[in-house]
Amino acid sequence: MGLKLYIGIDLGTSALKLLLMDKEGTIHNMVTKAYPLEFPQPGWSQQNPEDWKKALLEGMPELLQGFDGADVAGMGCGGQMHGLVVLDKDDNVIRPAILWNDGRTAKQVEDLNQKAGEENLARWTANIAFAGFTAPKLLWLREHEPENFAKIAKIMLPKDYINYILTGVHACDYSDASGMLLLDVEHKCWSREMLEICGVSEDQMPKLFESYDCIGTVKPDVARVLGVPETVRIAAGAGDNAAAAVGTGVVGEGGCNISLGTSGTVFISSATFRNLDNHAIHLFAHADGGYHLMGCMLSAASCNKWLLEDIFRTTDYAAEQAPITEDKLGKNHVFFLPYLMGERSPINDTNARGTFLGMTMDTSRADLVQAVLEGVAFAIRDSFEVAKSLGIEITSSKICGGGAKSPLWKKIMANVLNIELQCPESEQGPGMGGAMLAMVACGAYPNVQAACDRMVHVASTVRPEPELAARYETRYRQFQRIYPTCRQLFADFVKEEVQ
Ligand code: XUL
Repeated sequence: MGLKLYIGIDLGTSALKLLLMDKEGTIHNMVTKAYPLEFPQPGWSQQNPEDWKKALLEGMPELLQGFDGADVAGMGCGGQMHGLVVLDKDDNVIRPAILWNDGRTAKQVEDLNQKAGEENLARWTANIAFAGFTAPKLLWLREHEPENFAKIAKIMLPKDYINYILTGVHACDYSDASGMLLLDVEHKCWSREMLEICGVSEDQMPKLFESYDCIGTVKPDVARVLGVPETVRIAAGAGDNAAAAVGTGVVGEGGCNISLGTSGTVFISSATFRNLDNHAIHLFAHADGGYHLMGCMLSAASCNKWLLEDIFRTTDYAAEQAPITEDKLGKNHVFFLPYLMGERSPINDTNARGTFLGMTMDTSRADLVQAVLEGVAFAIRDSFEVAKSLGIEITSSKICGGGAKSPLWKKIMANVLNIELQCPESEQGPGMGGAMLAMVACGAYPNVQAACDRMVHVASTVRPEPELAARYETRYRQFQRIYPTCRQLFADFVKEEVQ
């Protein structure tokens, strides 16, 4: 037997990433397995849970190649949040999972916020309804697929399905459960009022755990397939943003992490529950046992990927960013609204659409790329402004996710937000966080904070430059005027399309 090993699973929207780590924080191996994302109608987004399972089963032998599976002590998953996974009485998946960036529930969201009332929702769950949250999806299913709704024996979130495959246990942790709009976040129990509104009972819900709790061990038949011992302990895990915050050391009071993945999030940790009077950003439980505030934009690195891969047909991101030299920053006259899937925080608008504005005959391809990077930074700033209005002052943040690999994007982000960005050694937030939660579940660390203190190190810092930050301040003020001007148009266009 060698050094004990821990596996972090990042169940993302485009791929499942596996990461093999020891308790000193050394990452020994990583494997990525991509799977498809379906958009059956504009604004809809689905995935097949079987694809997640396949990615896990295929990825594990590759991850462990050259290592002794017997050394694996624990596994933990950080998963894409809010997705509705429904199982029948035999634990078969009833229909494709409806994902976090799916916008089909505009009507259900309006009904919840208007009829049940935002104040009541906030009292019961600490949040208001957004399309993408799980409760509106249940209401949609009840209305549009009553035969499927009638079959539901268990409601789960994406990473909980992975945990179920591993252990046979129906479990959920508080951070991920917070995003269902079914959890009383303050008291960490299912909200009776919300379950009743959605027409489901508590025994259809998974059992609740802290993220660092052990929910069970790997089932013997699965352990054989994975090549690990039956003693491997499975942590409850966390929503990917809470897991990423653990992976970047954002735990306890007042830390901040920005994630530039498919979604873009601003995550602010809070040791205690707070009563907010603005619910444009979310208030969820954290994976360290505390709480957090979070603003989530639905399309961040995915806007960049869309422009480069789908429109420009290239994967050479560095070449596309190379012409965007220092002197061009803060001077772009092209703006981009990054609402390719509608938007969550803070505007809560499923009708919003991606928009380029301000082009002239001399606009170049690089100006468009720059506008996309800047548009995402401005939209992240929108959530920062909400946090600021709640009296939260952020002067520095960690940053992770695929977008954080770009030095240019980090520079734009630091200057648009006018804060210092600290870049951890690894940008693998959710996977690292998942492995660290597994270490706590195995007793390798007494708590999440101790694991972060030992394993998370800042590798570099990007500081804002006063002159550039001032130029971006002017641009941001202009950006802020675009969406309110377009809002009604977006709504009208969507309505006209439906008719
Ligand atoms: C957070 C959210 C996204 C997904 C992405 O509320 O919806 O960040 O978790 O995987």
